Amino acid sequence: MSKDNHFFMREPWTYDPEARPKKRDDGEQGFNTRALHAGFHPLGDLEPYRSFVPPITQSMTFPYKTFDEIPCPVYGRTRTPTNTLLEERLASLEGGEACITAGSGSQALFNLIFTIARPGDNVVTSLNVFGEGYKQAATIFPERCQVDFRFVQDPGNPDSWDALIDEKTKLVWVETPSNPCLFITDIAAIADVAHAHNVPLMVDNTTATAALQTPMDLGADIILLSITKFLAGNATVIGGAIVGPEDLVEDIRWNTTEFIGSVVPPLEAWMTLQYLETLAMRMQRHSSNAQAIAEYLKGHPGVAHVNYSGLPDHPQYDLAAKQMKAHGGLLSFVVKNGKAGAAAVMNAFKLVVHAVTFGTSKTICMHPATITHEHMTPAERAEAGIDDGLIRFSVGLEDPDDIIADLEQALSK
Ligand SMILES: Cc1ncc(COP(=O)(O)O)c(C=O)c1O
Repeated sequence: MSKDNHFFMREPWTYDPEARPKKRDDGEQGFNTRALHAGFHPLGDLEPYRSFVPPITQSMTFPYKTFDEIPCPVYGRTRTPTNTLLEERLASLEGGEACITAGSGSQALFNLIFTIARPGDNVVTSLNVFGEGYKQAATIFPERCQVDFRFVQDPGNPDSWDALIDEKTKLVWVETPSNPCLFITDIAAIADVAHAHNVPLMVDNTTATAALQTPMDLGADIILLSITKFLAGNATVIGGAIVGPEDLVEDIRWNTTEFIGSVVPPLEAWMTLQYLETLAMRMQRHSSNAQAIAEYLKGHPGVAHVNYSGLPDHPQYDLAAKQMKAHGGLLSFVVKNGKAGAAAVMNAFKLVVHAVTFGTSKTICMHPATITHEHMTPAERAEAGIDDGLIRFSVGLEDPDDIIADLEQALSK
């Protein structure tokens, strides 16, 4: 990643349909090696730091040596050394050219759209997106910036995406597996559709993470990440990131982040670097635990429906198996009696915690219809599969039998 582009006003990025991500120097290394070394290596960086662990540079301004020599970094709103290490590591894990972090995943989405779309432009997506993203798409951008969002009718069918893209489309946005209903979208097929219109494809890789799915290998141009979830993995950090072409990343940095703010502070960047070292192992255990829980729930008489792409009756089971290494730690299920039924089960949990996030080491549950997707109309929620009895369940790293025992007693109440 070039660290020289610290010009304050850069030309806006334009998508080049011919350009594929440049091959990274560390592209031949395995995922776990990159998770431990990308951006900082104790021997490679021996002279400046003499440290085995990446340093925390807890400074938000950086001295000028001479009057007209702009230092890089110059000010903490655009870049800090520890955050730069994190950006390099995230870019490496996703296989992208560059990365810019943001104060949350929602902010990263906002920064991306705000950077690439102008009044009159549009973005094509589906209702299978996280709640805050839906709110940005349904009201914030259309009402405040005149950027329109189009929601495809049949997200499993590439033609449905094709039908909504026109010459004013600046981005196609796919979230897969989606939160909260674990809908799987065919990344390679939608990349082909977007590219046929010379439009970039952005994939939100928050629920799978690069440990389980690398959308750039399937044709995605841009990746959206919430660091808050599995990447950090224990609810101690809030942050987000965009991985993509370096010119886009620097456009976001110098035309949006620099003027609007919202950064990952050095300590949080450093903590995330530590957590990423174990991402692949954690995702494996989240996935095997979630598989066991999904199978248990599937056979329970109190459960009307289970969403988990590791279950053979999931409508996109084969597609998920093709584009993911494992099915991840997030699932959702519908209990009887709608909201009252969900409340009864959630109130009865003794081990599982009711809280707003997912991707944590401890198992968490949440009620999407009232907490994250309450801005959707009831008809949109129905279309997206967000039943009033739906409980989002983020399976942690506990012993699976203990999670099942808690479910058993809560579902029997
Ligand atoms: C798939 C997905 N992407 C992005 C975000 C936004 O992340 P954050 O909570 O860091 O703003 C979320 C939040 O729930 C999410 O579920």
